[in-house]
Amino acid sequence: MDKFSFVRLAILTAFVPIALAVSTQQYNWKNVKIGGGGGFIPGIVFNPSQKGLAFARTDIGGAYKLNADDSWTPLLDFADDARWNYWGVDALATDPVEPNRLYLATGMYTNSWDPNNGQILISTDTGATFTPVKLPFKVGGNMPGRGMGERLAVDPNNNKILFFGARSGNGLWKSTDYGSTWSKVSSFTNTGTYIADPTDTSGYNSDKIGIAWVTFDQTSGKSGSATPRIFVGVANKGSSNIFVTNDGGSTWSAVAGQNTTYLPHKGVLSPSEKVLYVSYSDGAGPYDGTLGAVYKYNIASSTWTDITPVSGSDLYFGFGGVAVDLQKPGTLMVAALNSWWPDGQIFRSTDSGATWSPLWAWQSYPTMNKYYTYSDSLAPWLGPNYVDTTPGDKQIGWMMEALVIDPFDSNHWLYGTGATLYGGHDLLKWDTTHNVTIKSLADGIEETSIQGLISPPTGPSLLSAVGDIGGFAHVSLTSPPTTGFTNPTWPTASDIDFAGNKPTNIKLANMGECYSSTGKQVALSTDSGATWNQDYGAADNTTGGKVALSADGDTVLWRTNGNGVMVSQYTNAFTAVPSLPSDAAIASDKKNNSIFYGASQSKFYLSTDGGKTFAAKGSLGSSTSPVKVVVNPSVTGDVWVSTDKGIFHSTDSGSTFNALSGVTQAWAIALGAPAKSGGYPALFAAANIGGVGYFRSDDQGVNWVKINDANHGFGSASSNVITADPRIYGRVYIGTNGRGIFYGDASGASPAPTSTVSSTASSSTTSKSSSTTAVSTTKTTSSTTTSKTTTSSSPTSTGTVAGYGQCGGMGWTGGTVCVAGFTCVYSNPYYSQCTPS
Ligand SMILES: *[C@@H]1O[C@H](CO)[C@@H](O)[C@H](O)[C@H]1NC(C)=O
Ligand SMILES: *[C@@H]1O[C@H](CO)[C@@H](O)[C@H](O)[C@H]1NC(C)=O
Ligand SMILES: *[C@@H]1O[C@H](CO)[C@@H](O)[C@H](O)[C@H]1NC(C)=O
Ligand SMILES: *[C@@H]1O[C@H](CO)[C@@H](O)[C@H](O)[C@H]1NC(C)=O
Repeated sequence: MDKFSFVRLAILTAFVPIALAVSTQQYNWKNVKIGGGGGFIPGIVFNPSQKGLAFARTDIGGAYKLNADDSWTPLLDFADDARWNYWGVDALATDPVEPNRLYLATGMYTNSWDPNNGQILISTDTGATFTPVKLPFKVGGNMPGRGMGERLAVDPNNNKILFFGARSGNGLWKSTDYGSTWSKVSSFTNTGTYIADPTDTSGYNSDKIGIAWVTFDQTSGKSGSATPRIFVGVANKGSSNIFVTNDGGSTWSAVAGQNTTYLPHKGVLSPSEKVLYVSYSDGAGPYDGTLGAVYKYNIASSTWTDITPVSGSDLYFGFGGVAVDLQKPGTLMVAALNSWWPDGQIFRSTDSGATWSPLWAWQSYPTMNKYYTYSDSLAPWLGPNYVDTTPGDKQIGWMMEALVIDPFDSNHWLYGTGATLYGGHDLLKWDTTHNVTIKSLADGIEETSIQGLISPPTGPSLLSAVGDIGGFAHVSLTSPPTTGFTNPTWPTASDIDFAGNKPTNIKLANMGECYSSTGKQVALSTDSGATWNQDYGAADNTTGGKVALSADGDTVLWRTNGNGVMVSQYTNAFTAVPSLPSDAAIASDKKNNSIFYGASQSKFYLSTDGGKTFAAKGSLGSSTSPVKVVVNPSVTGDVWVSTDKGIFHSTDSGSTFNALSGVTQAWAIALGAPAKSGGYPALFAAANIGGVGYFRSDDQGVNWVKINDANHGFGSASSNVITADPRIYGRVYIGTNGRGIFYGDASGASPAPTSTVSSTASSSTTSKSSSTTAVSTTKTTSSTTTSKTTTSSSPTSTGTVAGYGQCGGMGWTGGTVCVAGFTCVYSNPYYSQCTPS
């Protein structure tokens, strides 16, 4: 399913021009390999001129370049806190004339969740480096309709020329200088009226999808001159939605004879046939679509032909991906955008859509003939029983908008799903033995949204709580996990913690509210995450939030979503903890089983009775939003708190705090193995210390070394989580919102401590510290508002649903009551079906 991102809003960070001597240490950063992508791949584009050159774009994790060995290399890891919205890639164009040129339209949201305008990122070295060109409007890489496309295209006859179709009614834009400057195409007036859900007050589903794709017909022109004929698909329903120009964009008209019932998702040219293939769906995607069509437009004869592969009751989905085989004119494939049950579907034709063969067919219900061999060897956790596949066996996928055939190799194909990227190298077998390989080929694509990380002193060095795909015990950092957390299997785990004295005892909290998950949403493991049990003390339907497990592992403190803070001992029913504010950051002491900590606004709280009651202790200065409380694993009462005003340290259980000098703002913090055996743990922080970055201190926050570099920005600092390894000095794990987990090891010499910072170190204070004052001119605004991209799920009953029809699911607005003889049965978060009673 899709990555939904928990973006705490962008931090508008002003660089602090103070003389703060923060030295830098070289770190070696690598992804912790999950190996299967882990999120939605809305776009894959092959360069038509250079063999083997291909790119994939993601909605919250940047873009990738394909390598010869089928692996992928990330291109946008340099995106730092100020450039976090670069990871939302709404469109990608690779230049057919000069294949070294690559363009990305980036920006995360067009609603308030992203305050920044979008930009075109221009590369002249196939993605090794980029130059940004700011656009005067927002771009929505993680907005509805992000799988339509591509919205950005390079003129194949004159590659100085690019067109970009904007969202939000901003229209069609053109560049004549390789993307350096852009101007609006005033002659193109139909900017798209379709809105997924006008009632969505968040602005997420209520914005216009706008222009969906731009497709040049290179056969209409000649090399060196602007291509005359260009097709543009627009998100309109019930009115013209495919437009054409025959004069390079001076004048436009609706293509005559088009069927405007559905939204055109893709317009793919088959140049030697002079045909435009168009897929349609009744929604913008990526989750929806219950009807659709496939048409071909014959340019020479100006005729449309309906070539939809299925009809009647077999047509219960829209269409997304369209691929043509440039080596074999007339060979094409289309993907069902969302065939939620029993599995995704892909169709292939070798006669220009006159006849089709499917990737699977019913032999006799419920037995399927699967015309493929499935392989998840590169990401064994994916599958056949992968999370959210209930009931059983979903392999082909969902949210299938990206579907491509290698223009130089008819056997090589790739497609994107909501969870991974599949493909193979034996596609021509479809036409002979009708049995092709479908293999997860997302190696190198790590696009998960990480919610929580722990590195206990025993067992696997890393365990994760992950958006959309649950979480993992990372037995190896370099090979993919064989399984995610199971029993319970949750789409999203929101946090994870371990017991300090019994570190194999681990607790997980679910964040299930996006997925209409019900039931107990805390789970416990006593074997380092290998197996789990639901915590039967949890009330049904209480979800999400943060968890803290007591030192001996018998007590769970749970900051829920919407039900305040709760506590339970020995898996008894959770009871409310009214003495701790419902937004508190929470932590357990790692030694004393009775002690828990909390922080909210400027107050620190202590519980000495196993979390039943909390008392306010010392002050966190002028803080308004504490982020994380971290406890020295071997010293009770030695606590660190990160807040919007810096980092605060207490050695007396929070009675008094030191505000660290020079740290003006901090998010995730962690303690790891000390530099010297027996020494104080190394402190890691995502913080603003003369600038936003990632830092380590070996002397309790007096001196800092910056550990990230220009190539590793980690995106939005406020969205990330950190844990540090208690076994390996210097090793830190950074969980990002969209680029998976990184681990870093110091590779360069540790710089000698400087005293510049320490000279202004503040003494103990319970109010605003001197250091805070010293940098009080910093103009930082931060919001800890957590935004999620959930699709609206307010079904409105509109009559009874026929047998085997859809009767529910996220975003479903149709009927929910089945005709007599059928019952609406939950299949997965996106799909419920009328099944014989
Ligand atoms: C347009 O498409 C719809 C849906 O596929 C179909 O029912 C209708 O007959 C089509 N209209 C024409 C004129 O072909
Ligand atoms: C395709 O090949 C796989 C692997 O050999 C096999 O399991 C499957 O049954 C084959 N499909 C059909 C329809 O024969
Ligand atoms: C939990 O949610 C489900 C689905 O919304 C509902 O049917 C059930 O009554 C809820 N249970 C409780 C205890 O609130
Ligand atoms: C744990 O903390 C409680 C509350 O401060 C205290 O009464 C108890 O003695 C402590 N336990 C140990 C083993 O130190």
